[in-house]
Amino acid sequence: MPKKIVAGNWKMNLTFTEADDLLNEIAELLENETIEAQIVVCPPHPYLEMAGDVAKESSFAIGAQNLSPFESGAYTGDVSSAMLKSMEVTYCIIGHSERRKYYNEDDKMLTAKVNQAIEHQIIPIFCVGEALPEREAGKHFETVRHQVRHGLFHLDTNEFSEVVIAYEPVWAIGTGVTASPEQAREMHAYIRQLIDERYGKEVADTTSILYGGSCNAKNAAEIFSQQGVDGGLIGGASLIPKEFLAICKAVK
Ligand code: 13P
Repeated sequence: MPKKIVAGNWKMNLTFTEADDLLNEIAELLENETIEAQIVVCPPHPYLEMAGDVAKESSFAIGAQNLSPFESGAYTGDVSSAMLKSMEVTYCIIGHSERRKYYNEDDKMLTAKVNQAIEHQIIPIFCVGEALPEREAGKHFETVRHQVRHGLFHLDTNEFSEVVIAYEPVWAIGTGVTASPEQAREMHAYIRQLIDERYGKEVADTTSILYGGSCNAKNAAEIFSQQGVDGGLIGGASLIPKEFLAICKAVK
């Protein structure tokens, strides 16, 4: 069985004090709860240390939103996998459509980031997903196949076994429009089939594949109950403590 995971991607939101409040509210809410899923909180880099401190007393893990494709050295502004690892960061989002779009992160760059993460025992949450024109042209499988193959399939079986995949259709991100349960189920099954063809059934059956895109407390249970959906990558709703908790609880 794949591990169930709900990860909150805070994106570029919140001041230091607001982040402190949110972390503590999440920790407080989790105190009396038994959640089936591994909860991962992914704040902006400057708040990772604070998040790590709160997480020590709570049940959630810490993820970063980005890491450098390079090991170390003269890369002004970059944050390396070794640095993240030294701050108890367990996961890192890689290949998010916002970084692909606004920072032109291509397959080569993403492969380098995945390699850095794996080398430093950070679990990549590797995002894939088609844009609306691709969906409308019936090319969504083709797009996702390309992203999965070119971003991840250079890994050997042991390395790939560490990876989490998030299917985030670009048209569903921040739009209030989620993929239908059917669309999510179909794409998750397709991704699992690709993994099966490359790494075999055992790996395919244990890879966590999360859904992301306008998940909220109202729609999470239906999406998460679909065959092959192992949890979610949550944007906007992860900034609202009770909403985030409700989404975490929707994983069965
Ligand atoms: P929203 O949940 O705000 O649509 O964002 C999804 C996302 O991009 C998570 O990485």
